[in-house]
Amino acid sequence: MRLILVVCALSSAWVVDAQLLRYEGKIHFGTDGHDQQPHSKILLGSDGHDQKPHGQKLLGVDGHDQRLHSQTLLGADGHDQHPHTQTVLGGDGHDQRSHGQTLLGEDGHDQRNHKETLLGGDGHDQGHHGQTLLGADGHDMRAHSQKLLGQDGHDQRPHSQVLLGGDGHDQQPHGQKVGNGPRELSHTHMFKGFMKKYNKAYNSQSEFKKRFSIFRQNLKKIHILQQSERGTAKYGPTKFSDLTEHEFRRMLGLRPDLKPTLSQMEPAEIPSEEIPSSFDWRDHGIVTPVKNQGMCGSCWAFSVTGNVEGQWALKHKHLYSLSEQELVDCDKTDEGCNGGMPENAYEAIAKLGGLETENDYPYEAKDDQCHFNETKVKVTVNGSVELPQNEDDLARWLVKHGPISIGINANALQFYVGGVSHPLRFLCNPKSLDHGMLIVGYGVHTTKYLHRRQPYWIVKNSWGPDWGEQGYYRVYRGDGTCGVNQMATSAIVP
Ligand SMILES: *[C@@H]1O[C@H](CO)[C@@H](O)[C@H](O)[C@H]1NC(C)=O
Ligand SMILES: *[C@@H]1O[C@H](CO)[C@@H](O)[C@H](O)[C@H]1NC(C)=O
Repeated sequence: MRLILVVCALSSAWVVDAQLLRYEGKIHFGTDGHDQQPHSKILLGSDGHDQKPHGQKLLGVDGHDQRLHSQTLLGADGHDQHPHTQTVLGGDGHDQRSHGQTLLGEDGHDQRNHKETLLGGDGHDQGHHGQTLLGADGHDMRAHSQKLLGQDGHDQRPHSQVLLGGDGHDQQPHGQKVGNGPRELSHTHMFKGFMKKYNKAYNSQSEFKKRFSIFRQNLKKIHILQQSERGTAKYGPTKFSDLTEHEFRRMLGLRPDLKPTLSQMEPAEIPSEEIPSSFDWRDHGIVTPVKNQGMCGSCWAFSVTGNVEGQWALKHKHLYSLSEQELVDCDKTDEGCNGGMPENAYEAIAKLGGLETENDYPYEAKDDQCHFNETKVKVTVNGSVELPQNEDDLARWLVKHGPISIGINANALQFYVGGVSHPLRFLCNPKSLDHGMLIVGYGVHTTKYLHRRQPYWIVKNSWGPDWGEQGYYRVYRGDGTCGVNQMATSAIVP
């Protein structure tokens, strides 16, 4: 059941996801028969709308879109979502005549009558707006203070203040003149900001171009995650935003296929005591600082050392930082930087005779020869337990016994910035576990205006403190989000 081909599963997930989003109404449907039929493929316009030619005739009730488009139509802002009163005769059949009446865009764009003919290359917005336009996505929410002179008449001057577009448009104040249209500009700007923030340098123009292109692809994934988010999480550019999905997979490393066919794990006993509404082992001195696995699929080793560190500290009142590299090099049931399973690692530690410390056996982020030295062992393990999937039981066990090693689906992690992450189920299949982490606590967030309850787990990751919330992830608790409850285990220490 847990056997998966993660790479394939994930890449196809994005295809399915966009379709499903469409059916869920997240991507815009026209009210006039436009786009009321499912497209046969993903449409990748800036708001997911109409950047590809339609493969078939769409018969709008008002004669809109009755012809096959011969080229790309850029309905980036919900423009043309309402019926025209007459045929439109532009070069691409789009809007070259002045509008005879008010057009009510769903995002508030063009909600007022233009005072004059629009004469842009695409008939759109080359003239001064006569009045404030209130876009629902933060675009054009203020009156432009001057004429707009861009190629498409749009946004070639810097805004005088920050506009926060929901679709990644204009999320940064423009620092310079923009020549290639707003999207290109804002992406270039974001990419440069990203490079600066994370000290990225590319050693050739072609590498720069490649990374910029990946970055832009990733912005689309961020958009999908953000639009469909049910919790309070923010997704955005992170230090992994210039990585392809394939490259990102090297930051993971959970390998359910390495699980022994006959699991020997004991089921854990669940304590019956009442527990507080929130709890955090970081407040009790049994959690080491956030570590960084680097470009090595060793998450499983970090998940296990984190668990054993906590178990040992709780029992022996001494917090050691323990060696992942020992597991990467010496646990032969697992595959080092190619991935592994906590369940195997507990057994490997018991067989080897224990774990050395981080200092004595330091981390290299690559596979190496085993140079385990038994005389340096500080901590031993003599068994392990498997925890139930019920998340209340997990919390009860955690409060009594310490941090829990888990497997999780990493789909929401590459672009996680902070907040309580609660992605739609089909964006984060709970059966496709591909990353190992460590639950260290839990709590409940209440949203500011609607007072919605958002119970969450506090999860330690191994991607350094400059990822997520100082290296931590908060994920929704109670409905098995991303499979957080599917592979919970712990070592037993003597
Ligand atoms: C193992 O560590 C001890 C010190 O704890 C050292 O004396 C010994 O030489 C080491 N053995 C090997 C094989 O490196
Ligand atoms: C593990 O160690 C504890 C404490 O020494 C002991 O009670 C227990 O029986 C041991 N378990 C195994 C499987 O050796």
